Amino acid sequence: MARAQTSFVCQSCGAAAAKWSGKCEACGSWNSIVEEKAFAPSGPAARKPARGRAVVLEDLATSEEPPPRRVTGIAEFDRVCGGGLVPGSALLVGGDPGVGKSTLVLQALAAHAKAGGRVVYISGEEAMAQVRLRARRMDLADAPVSLASATCIEDILATLDAGPVPGLVAIDSIQTIWTSALDAAPGTIAQVRTASLDLVRYAKASGAAILLVGHVTKEGQIAGPKAVEHLVDAVLYFEGERGHQFRVLRAVKNRFGATDEIGVFEMTGEGLKEVPNPSALFLGDRNSAAPGAAVFAGLEGTRPLLVEMQALLAPASYGTPRRAVVGWDSSRLAMVLAVLDARAGVGAAGNDVYLNVAGGLEIREPAADLAAAAALVSSLANRALPRGTVFFGEISLSGEIRPAQQPELRLKEAAKLGFSTALVPAGIKAGPGDMVLKEVAHVAELAKLIGVGEKRARETAAW
Ligand code: TYD
Ligand code: MG
Repeated sequence: MARAQTSFVCQSCGAAAAKWSGKCEACGSWNSIVEEKAFAPSGPAARKPARGRAVVLEDLATSEEPPPRRVTGIAEFDRVCGGGLVPGSALLVGGDPGVGKSTLVLQALAAHAKAGGRVVYISGEEAMAQVRLRARRMDLADAPVSLASATCIEDILATLDAGPVPGLVAIDSIQTIWTSALDAAPGTIAQVRTASLDLVRYAKASGAAILLVGHVTKEGQIAGPKAVEHLVDAVLYFEGERGHQFRVLRAVKNRFGATDEIGVFEMTGEGLKEVPNPSALFLGDRNSAAPGAAVFAGLEGTRPLLVEMQALLAPASYGTPRRAVVGWDSSRLAMVLAVLDARAGVGAAGNDVYLNVAGGLEIREPAADLAAAAALVSSLANRALPRGTVFFGEISLSGEIRPAQQPELRLKEAAKLGFSTALVPAGIKAGPGDMVLKEVAHVAELAKLIGVGEKRARETAAW
């Protein structure tokens, strides 16, 4: 007989404690500790560890070719995976409930199945009828996907072992899967960890590639995040703002590829559509030039991406001025504001400052500094920036504008979308076609170009 043991496990970070408390000592989150029963092995196995068996050591070098990756044919998805799924690997797709994880996974499976691969979709959340309804809506009803509705890991593994090895298996979602070996409720960290471990082991042993779907908790973590993230080979987050129709798939960990790639999709009435040219989507309708808007020529992984950064500075009515940022790092905003104040004499003190990245995209590149600074100065001066201009460059604490990687790629994308001028770090001499390049070496030059401090009020700055 197994002996039941009780421990108190934080559902946010996985730390175990001997007694319950309201706050987790390890990660500081409140109300996240849940009592879980774990079974300690008893009987002969528990008494004495068995003597180990020597394993064969092999050379790193091999003449064997790695097996080909399993591509789904959905280019945005395959690229984020690093060029398709690696046989024997496990991949976690995390995201808020309702963002479209099930839709994405079903589309990826259906595409792989239509191309001749054997795929299995295990739904723990939805009934078969619901999955079929969704497939019909997306016009995928005839894809040869093997479907099952199951939540018990032993049943799932027995099912997978029974047939030929599938190329792709999706488990939707990992929080619904439970093992009868544990007494804990489904969705608790112990269950999620055990189920994931079993599935990862199955993937490694069989060569099937496994897609695990995981919900993100309110705090933005996949329930039992630490417990699952280190078990799998790749972690992708599927993100999207409510009220916007597009979704971004972002790799945060990938043992077989780069982690700075993003895939962009649009949620339509017939499922997710790929967006091969996202710049046009993020720029939207830029018909009117408004003060405080600057277009950043960015780079997401291997792909250039143009996005609009919008700033608004308004006199603070009382107390400490507000600093609110959507889609960018707030400490980066504080730094740019301080540098503008100290190095260019453009002070925002006494103003509320709002910065927004249009379309709900999240920008992480330091090269966005120059565009953010231009948007801030433009809003402060209440003067629109000349139309058809893009910006990129990192701002240092001394106020200098530092170069960014791959300027040619950024400029080429800007030219393709009809931009005629670029404000760039010093040293970039030639752009594509007849694009006008303005080298900016220092933030003071930027402020001067926008015309801050000039008495003469103009609609738009000129350069
Ligand atoms: P879903 O994939 O079920 O989300 P998740 O698995 O992440 O919880 O997608 C749910 C949302 O997507 C739902 O609000 C409806 C929307 N949706 C569409 O707009 N079009 C579609 O074709 C489908 C299938 C879903
Ligand atoms: Mg779902």
